[in-house]
Amino acid sequence: MPASRRGSGSIVLPSGQTMAMHTRTHDEEDLPHATKKTMADHLRKYESLFTLTPQRMRMIVEAFKDTLELGLSKHKQTVPMIPTYVFGWPTGQEKGDYLSVDLGGTNLRVCLVTLEGEGKFEVTQTKYRLTEEQKQEEGQKLFDFCAECLKTFVDTNLQDENSGLKLQPGEKLPLGFTFSYPCTQERIDHGELIRWTKGFGAPNTEGHDVAAMFRASLEKFELPIELTALINDTTGTLIASNYVNPKNKIAVIFGTGCNAAYMEYVKDIPKIHDVGIGLDGQMAINCEWGAFDSFEHEHLPRTKYDQIVDETSNKPGEQAFEKLISGRYLGEILRLVLCELIDEGVLFLGQNTYKLEVPYAFDTAFLSLLESDPTDELLMAIGIFTHFFALETTLAERQFFRALAKLIGRRAARLSACGIAAIVSKMGYLEEGCSVGADGSLYNKYPGFADRVHEGLQDVFGDKGRNIVTHHAEDGSGVGSAIIAAMTKARKDAGIYVDL
Ligand code: BGC
Repeated sequence: MPASRRGSGSIVLPSGQTMAMHTRTHDEEDLPHATKKTMADHLRKYESLFTLTPQRMRMIVEAFKDTLELGLSKHKQTVPMIPTYVFGWPTGQEKGDYLSVDLGGTNLRVCLVTLEGEGKFEVTQTKYRLTEEQKQEEGQKLFDFCAECLKTFVDTNLQDENSGLKLQPGEKLPLGFTFSYPCTQERIDHGELIRWTKGFGAPNTEGHDVAAMFRASLEKFELPIELTALINDTTGTLIASNYVNPKNKIAVIFGTGCNAAYMEYVKDIPKIHDVGIGLDGQMAINCEWGAFDSFEHEHLPRTKYDQIVDETSNKPGEQAFEKLISGRYLGEILRLVLCELIDEGVLFLGQNTYKLEVPYAFDTAFLSLLESDPTDELLMAIGIFTHFFALETTLAERQFFRALAKLIGRRAARLSACGIAAIVSKMGYLEEGCSVGADGSLYNKYPGFADRVHEGLQDVFGDKGRNIVTHHAEDGSGVGSAIIAAMTKARKDAGIYVDL
């Protein structure tokens, strides 16, 4: 028998929970478990459901490219290809102190960013966890909470006698507000929320200018702060990663949600030709690609589990691409497969499965843990199933769970590669190659995610796919938002498109 690591211990999950691990010397024989062969037969079925062939990927890329073009040419498309009013790349010489508030899918972050030029910066930040209730309460209340956290941050970090930051009477600190949800922008300090994503549902916010709502909250707290730019996390990531490495031409986020941004030629954004911007410039585009194939579901390989995730979400039909990829949903997809096997009497016979039957009980972090388990006996899986779900498992079952996690994680990475490939191909970046700044929990923490994206790019493009390389990006929501605030100030000071 091969040697295995034995013993007990505990690990802390990203959610903050502690998980105990212990080794068994034999599998339970008193409970009726599925045989190795049964699990292998089931695995074959899921392999065919979740595997994406190179040919299918290339078809998806073609449809994706058409969708990107359509979004650039007409307003109100499913993939809205949002002009961000971030004109061109940073010089790398942007300097100064900037505040940023980042309302992400999981946390609220407040940062003070000091840009030092030459691609250098310093960041001081505080993070606050958002509760599920906050995501559903009145929109204005949510922005008030953001302003309140900002006030605490300013009081703690900027009013200090020793801090270098002293405001002149009447002076206001520029703030970049990173609001990572699809917003139509008419200028850089404006953004009408098209729809909430990532499980948010705060009423009286969709269809409203969220920059104006946040300004109202800032006034309530009498903060000496001016909202200079409203940005998306992908746009921030695009600019921040180009600030430190000008080879970065695309930014992607694979976290609770998923999305991409890139720099487009204004002449190739027909829908804004009447706004009065010279056609020779460039503007960053927030693709909002999570919405690809929403509503019509023509191009993506959705399984019945994906359909259940969609139908039981607070936004059925929407964010079809995101629901196959992002960290918010992968755990739930796996959980639904397990529930099906419970219903069919294959798994956990004679055991109480109620804990696993709770929607979203299976965290996407569990997939990462299952995949990265280094032990022959799959101790991590034992730990997850006993500690969180009070379920006994056999080695054959645990091997099946790990294989299933791999199928779901790999499909997510390969679909992500399709999105990147669509932008690369549309912009003609393949021959000369380009670097893609990537961020988000899935990209940063899921074992092998980046390698699978790269493998996917080669499946789409052949050997030339190697020219496209993703790497961990700079902090877009903090640093990127500060650079954009600085670029905007410099542009307006120079009298360029001052009303945009
Ligand atoms: C949002 C995007 C965001 C992405 C990553 C998506 O759900 O619609 O605006 O960039 O998540 O955070």
